Amino acid sequence: MTTSYDVEPGDAVHPGDPVVVDRYTTGARINHWITAASLVLLAISGLSLFHPKLFFLTALFGGGQNTRAIHPWIGVVLFLGFLGLFIRFWRANLWERTDNVWLARLRDVLGAREENLPEVGKYNAGQKVVFWSMSILIVVLITSGVVIWDQYFSEYTSLEQKRIAVLVHSLAAIVAICVWIVHVYAAIWVRGTIGAMTRGRVTGGWAWRHHRKWLRELVTGKGDRNAGAKPAA
Ligand code: HEM
Repeated sequence: MTTSYDVEPGDAVHPGDPVVVDRYTTGARINHWITAASLVLLAISGLSLFHPKLFFLTALFGGGQNTRAIHPWIGVVLFLGFLGLFIRFWRANLWERTDNVWLARLRDVLGAREENLPEVGKYNAGQKVVFWSMSILIVVLITSGVVIWDQYFSEYTSLEQKRIAVLVHSLAAIVAICVWIVHVYAAIWVRGTIGAMTRGRVTGGWAWRHHRKWLRELVTGKGDRNAGAKPAA
């Protein structure tokens, strides 16, 4: 934790400067944005193959055949990218009893009456739901995707299995896109959150208002450091 918005090592810190809290390392941010970019490209290339009306989108990837060849590889990048995020953040997303209370008081969440909510650790219950849903969906997507990746795996699966896999793959993709929209909407809606993933830092006010338990643990050095009470991960 530090006390100036653009403070660098050796810079003077003045009383009255806003408090700034480190939230993500550079490595975590690069990992996140590679994953984010791959999901966007995957959604566009997937949708372009999903419905004839969206086929024009294949032009972005050099035509139909190229899109068909590239789409599964972008899926592999997404899978590996998300695996990196999973390894970094799974502990901080473990469910706690207070998360049930947070969810039960969703009206207060939407009404921004945070004084009625339990103190939140590094992530709130909504973020945890997004995290675990995405974890499951990405495993479903890669597994069903491999079954229909004819270029390399056609001989290992039957036609019947491929038919089921296409259905599962499409449904999982639609749900994943919805979960992604919720994630982005929440990141924009809670002002000051985008900066966490672009600059790696948040204001002390943001941390106090939205993730007070995490801030307390950071300041006091108490709490389970593995459960997210770390300056940056
Ligand atoms: C492209 C648009 C995206 C934007 C604008 C965005 C924005 C953000 C922001 C601002 C945070 C920090 C939240 C905080 O620290 O409280 C974050 C965290 C995170 N994002 Fe994204 N994100 C995007 C796409 C994605 C995608 C596609 C994935 C995964 C497939 C993803 C996975 C995550 C994860 C795992 C975290 C850590 C939060 C947690 O573990 O619960 N993001 N994102």
